[in-house]
Amino acid sequence: MQTAVLSHHHLLLPPAKNQYPRRISPGINVAAGRRLSRIWAVAAPQQLRRVTHPLPPEKAEVFESLEEWARDSVLPILKPVEECWQPEDFLPDPADSDAFEDQIRDLRARTAGLPDEYFVILVGDMITEDALPTYQTMINTLDAVRDESGCSSKPWAVWTRSWTAEENRHGDLLGKYLYLSGRVDMRMVSKTVQYLIGAGMNPGTDNNPYLGFVYTSFQERATFISHGNTARMAKEGGDPTLARVCGTIAADEKRHEIAYAKIVEKLLEVDPTGAMLAIEDMMKKKIAMPAHLMHDGRDLRLFDHFAAVAQKLGVYTAADYADILEFLVGRWKLEKIGGLAGDAARAQDFVCGLAQRIRKLQERADERARRSGPHNVRFSWIFDREVSLP
Ligand SMILES: [Fe+2]
Ligand SMILES: [Fe+2]
Repeated sequence: MQTAVLSHHHLLLPPAKNQYPRRISPGINVAAGRRLSRIWAVAAPQQLRRVTHPLPPEKAEVFESLEEWARDSVLPILKPVEECWQPEDFLPDPADSDAFEDQIRDLRARTAGLPDEYFVILVGDMITEDALPTYQTMINTLDAVRDESGCSSKPWAVWTRSWTAEENRHGDLLGKYLYLSGRVDMRMVSKTVQYLIGAGMNPGTDNNPYLGFVYTSFQERATFISHGNTARMAKEGGDPTLARVCGTIAADEKRHEIAYAKIVEKLLEVDPTGAMLAIEDMMKKKIAMPAHLMHDGRDLRLFDHFAAVAQKLGVYTAADYADILEFLVGRWKLEKIGGLAGDAARAQDFVCGLAQRIRKLQERADERARRSGPHNVRFSWIFDREVSLP
């Protein structure tokens, strides 16, 4: 087994004149961000131990033995393309030359009532969705379930490609909607996407599908919650179409969460010790958000600032992180799993008590943040206007 410690929170900076891009750790030298509390829900861990090892053969066999089960129980959770929504269902129709301009005017009138900070969140969500190549790559780093040929007919590979194809509509729709709204600096948004895809991500899943599917279970639920919240806020802010956009995306995320959680449930059934240790491993690392390496070429703590706005608006918060964990503990009936011994029994205790501990830690972090007082952060995405953070 090979292990290496990777410094985790690195961003690829734009090259200065006559200089190649260099890597720096933004936490070290950014005074402006120092007042932000470390937010459990969204903060990436300082360091991730990167373990690179192939899955032991007997664990790879678990996934082979589950192929038929996956074909019967997981693939049907996908929607046939013919029954799927497409971004065009929610956007002005350019082929209708009479109505097109009116539809754009209506869209812009509807979004005019939403505050700047809402757009910071919508942009951050869209950018997160648009880094989809990274997520498909990440899933294809997982032993025993990766798509070996690019068009493998194994159910794990079919799932991953179809999941990607469903997900691909999310960033596409949000991006086009944002573009037409005129509320955001689309060039800075595109730049951030380019930086993010170039930077990749480090979820700490170590080529291990047990870890990978725990991560995706958590992550799909997190996006379900955040898109659900942006839907609610769009409705309250006067844009029912945008509410439908975000709500429809949230419904996809929910289906994906159901699939991934079902896979982990099955792993708990066939290999309770291995699955319990995997859940513990991911929770000890903390679930890093997929876009934790985002950068716009300007703000060295862009992700932390975006996360702080999400916390402020209640779109995705530390409480949500604890709620998701609690939900999954219940969904997988982790407290009721009997017969575990040694490390697996300790893992069970750790995971089942973790949500409560996170809530206590967050209370203390909130208290520290309150004492440091409010401050303003500028976002390039909204033409360098400021958002106030508590
Ligand atoms: Fe998505
Ligand atoms: Fe998703």
